[in-house]
Amino acid sequence: MKEATKPTAADVDRLNELLGGKPAEEIVRWAGETFGPEIKFANSFGAEDVALQHIIAKIAPNIRVFTLDTGRLNDETYQVMDATRFKYPDVPIEVMFPERDKVEGLTREKGFFSFRESVELRKECCAIRKVQPLKRALADANAWMTGLRRDQSVTRTDTPTIEWDEGNAMVKVNPLIEWSNEDVWAYIKANKIPYNKLHDQHYPSIGCAPCTRAIKDGEDIRAGRWWWENPEFKECGLHE
Ligand code: ADX
Ligand code: SF4
Repeated sequence: MKEATKPTAADVDRLNELLGGKPAEEIVRWAGETFGPEIKFANSFGAEDVALQHIIAKIAPNIRVFTLDTGRLNDETYQVMDATRFKYPDVPIEVMFPERDKVEGLTREKGFFSFRESVELRKECCAIRKVQPLKRALADANAWMTGLRRDQSVTRTDTPTIEWDEGNAMVKVNPLIEWSNEDVWAYIKANKIPYNKLHDQHYPSIGCAPCTRAIKDGEDIRAGRWWWENPEFKECGLHE
């Protein structure tokens, strides 16, 4: 992609007029044609992301893919990561780790569960294990793609298809933003896509192992994420 065509904040409204409400496949095709490998998909291997990975492999395999391995993931997440690598051998997955010095300092000074003590300490852990590695992953990109959905949370109800990500100074493309949870699962089942087995054990949303638990019937789909915090704080900094 030519540098001159890299979208900026001023292009976001026009791009939302062009792409808002369009099928996910069309948005992914546009992203592949517009950016090629200059756009990177952040894959957490949750249900939305395995569905989006399938669309990318089918329609725009030139889009690069990375995952943030925080060091605190569940075994089931590594298992679906490997199943995905096996299913789409032509789509390499870049695995980003947190900086060793930062993790060593954090655990030496504050132990292994500091994130339970306050929102600030939780955000510190997320910053070290997720947000800083995200910045490193995006250092060689012109745009990024996510599996965000609007109805996932009160913090996401206004999220558009194309966002300006101020912190990373690039656009963020959210092809599944209008999908419902039912749409995601219908797509996974119809296409026999490997998914995280924790989803079958009442884990609709999966993050790090110590910060995710199963939900009870009738609870919100993100109720098991950072369950000790208020819903309005439940973002790790990747999407602020
Ligand atoms: S989180 O911010 O609360 O952790 P969530 O799990 O809902 O986010 O995922 C939303 C989107 O953020 C995913 O679709 C994915 O694009 C990105 N994301 C979240 N966690 C990771 C991760 N560990 N690695 C890569 N991308 C991630
Ligand atoms: Fe740390 Fe929990 Fe955030 Fe993972 S989700 S980075 S363990 S605070």
